[in-house]
Amino acid sequence: MQRLSLTRTYASAPQGSFLTAGQPIHETHPHKLRPGEITPGISAQEYYARRQLILESLPDKSLVIIPGNDVQFATNSVFYEFRQDPNFFYLTGFLEPQAALVLYRENENNMESIFFVPGKDYQAELWDGTRSGPNGAIEMFNADRAYPFSEIYSQIELLLKDSETIYMDTFPAKTSNRFPSFFKSHGQNVVKNSLAELFKKAGRKEYKSAVALVEKPRLIKSEAEIDNLRIAAELSSAAYNKAYATGFRTEGQLQAFLDYEFRMAGCEESAYLPVVAGGAHALTIHYTRNDDLLHDGDMVLVDAGGRYGGYCADISRTWPVNGKFSEPQRDLYQACLNVNKECIKLCTASSGLSLHDIHSHSESVMLAELKNCGFTGLTQRQLHVLYPHYIGHNLGIDVHDITQPPRYAKLQPGQVITIEPGVYVPENSELFPKHFRGLGIRIEDDVVVGERDYEVLTADTLKEIEDIERAAEGRL
Ligand code: GLY
Ligand code: MN
Ligand code: MN
Repeated sequence: MQRLSLTRTYASAPQGSFLTAGQPIHETHPHKLRPGEITPGISAQEYYARRQLILESLPDKSLVIIPGNDVQFATNSVFYEFRQDPNFFYLTGFLEPQAALVLYRENENNMESIFFVPGKDYQAELWDGTRSGPNGAIEMFNADRAYPFSEIYSQIELLLKDSETIYMDTFPAKTSNRFPSFFKSHGQNVVKNSLAELFKKAGRKEYKSAVALVEKPRLIKSEAEIDNLRIAAELSSAAYNKAYATGFRTEGQLQAFLDYEFRMAGCEESAYLPVVAGGAHALTIHYTRNDDLLHDGDMVLVDAGGRYGGYCADISRTWPVNGKFSEPQRDLYQACLNVNKECIKLCTASSGLSLHDIHSHSESVMLAELKNCGFTGLTQRQLHVLYPHYIGHNLGIDVHDITQPPRYAKLQPGQVITIEPGVYVPENSELFPKHFRGLGIRIEDDVVVGERDYEVLTADTLKEIEDIERAAEGRL
């Protein structure tokens, strides 16, 4: 039986006990973590419960392999900022690269969380920083067993003998791609067999997706996860409101300002590469060059958010560069805002609606709003030119949380979704009123679905025209 031994967590480790960790812990970073937390807001107990839920759902003789991410290199020794695999993070809170979680269920009396983590290595730690090591994985992360990562193949080989159902993604073709630096750093002397070869040797088994297994509980957020999403949204909202009150000459300055404000307020980083699109750049939905000037008389569309405790905010706002809406900007903005507000009202479980139902509703409301603005004789096809994307997506550890979102399932309490209608009027199309051409507007909020109510996490990010104009009046 897997033990839930809180005495094994660092939270209750004796004062002065010797623990080195490869990430912040309460003892070293009390400003970030409360006692009992592995990552901000998420306790060792919650991580344990997440693994336990999965173990309890498995058939006997199941093996689940969830690799963490590796450091990615731009060139030679130039590495990108490390980002942990979201499913591995969800189940462990372990932030070092080159690690993996293996869940093994023999039967209901024998269920184990086995961690494979970078082994303690004085030389490597001198260069790259301290590691938690296998003992830390047991002491701090509640692993039942833990090994240096270099032992993953031999341990899996043993477990495979007693496994009938194997949950592992990208099997078999891409398996070894999930462990690239392992091969690089340990070389062929240590690794005789790739996982794919091990599986081949193990003979016929049933293979299923581990990602699907982990994403199921990830869909519904716990109170602690919602708290983190709320903090990410509130810190990001404050940054947006400050941006309204600050003039910018370039897209790059505005991008830098938001990133600075997110971090200064307590976010770890920007949750994703932002869109900061002045004028007609806003017509490019994934515009991330952010390298142009901002012009008086244009609007700027910004899609940005901070990350807190590993959870994302995802906010879009569009406002006039000079702080004052022109008449066409005002009309089109208000149309989009009305769609945003109408759709947010539907984010309850009791509405019985799916995300796709809300999307369909957003299209009908957008059509009516655009007609109202003077877009005459709009066909469905033209509507899709003006509003070419979906109403929203799940939000959590990933900005587009859950790889296969259940768009057609009824919304459930605890889902966190975005509502982000947009309207983008091509510059050179005779089909649409001249004064709207070249305008691109998106208004995106983050919403917690409740049974009969909802919570707009980004409610503090100003979006009413008068509020934005008033905020901009305070500019220096
Ligand atoms: N920021 C990406 C999105 O809004 O979906
Ligand atoms: Mn979004
Ligand atoms: Mn967005």
